[in-house]
Amino acid sequence: MRKNIVAGNWKMNKTFSEGLALATELNAALADSSLNCDVVIGTPFIHLASVAAAIDTTKIGVAAQNCADHESGAYTGEISASMVKSTGAEYVILGHSERRAYYGETAAKLKVKTELALKNGLTPIFCIGEVLEERESGVFFDVVKSQIVDSLFELSAEDFSKIVLAYEPVWAIGTGKTASAAQAQEIHAFIRKTLVDKYGKEIADNTSILYGGSCNAANAKELFSNPDVDGGLIGGASLKVADFKAIIDAF
Ligand code: PGA
Repeated sequence: MRKNIVAGNWKMNKTFSEGLALATELNAALADSSLNCDVVIGTPFIHLASVAAAIDTTKIGVAAQNCADHESGAYTGEISASMVKSTGAEYVILGHSERRAYYGETAAKLKVKTELALKNGLTPIFCIGEVLEERESGVFFDVVKSQIVDSLFELSAEDFSKIVLAYEPVWAIGTGKTASAAQAQEIHAFIRKTLVDKYGKEIADNTSILYGGSCNAANAKELFSNPDVDGGLIGGASLKVADFKAIIDAF
């Protein structure tokens, strides 16, 4: 069954104590509500274990924002998928455009990271999305399709069915400029069709495709009301409980 998901991406924000306080406050705010979507928070690595221990993880899933492209060993400073899993986190955000742009994450690297995440029982939230020039020149369909094909289409159907996709147009991230509901629906439908062609209708219909990029309380409802938009990956607006909860409540 396709799930609606609202996932926060804290990026490189919040000290350890601030992060723990934010997670605890969110946990309290959601404690009495029955939710119409899955909720996930993507914290920095150092917060994962403490956040997972402090909140009701049956209600709020915990995500890392990256994992290594190796299983273990002499890779100073890296964090493996199995380490992420051992904290109590269940998800890992992979291929975020900031990782692709600033940390040289290629399609090949992301393919390995995705495989390691799946092997270690994590659900990848795999990000795709075009930059402004690609949107304006109209090549964005091809760009997004290649990002999916190059990193994910060697997965077995069983493994692919565990993936969550997040379409995040780079021009909308942190800019306050959101894709319109119609633009989001158009590309999400295209993404789902791409999945139908490769893995068949059942798997495509069951894949959650989130929208990300300046999603906030004011636009979430309209974006999420599209048939192929199954929730959001939320950056800035996930850093305040009231803002994030208002997006969750859009479902
Ligand atoms: P934003 O970030 O909501 O701050 O635009 C979204 C993201 O990068 O995941």
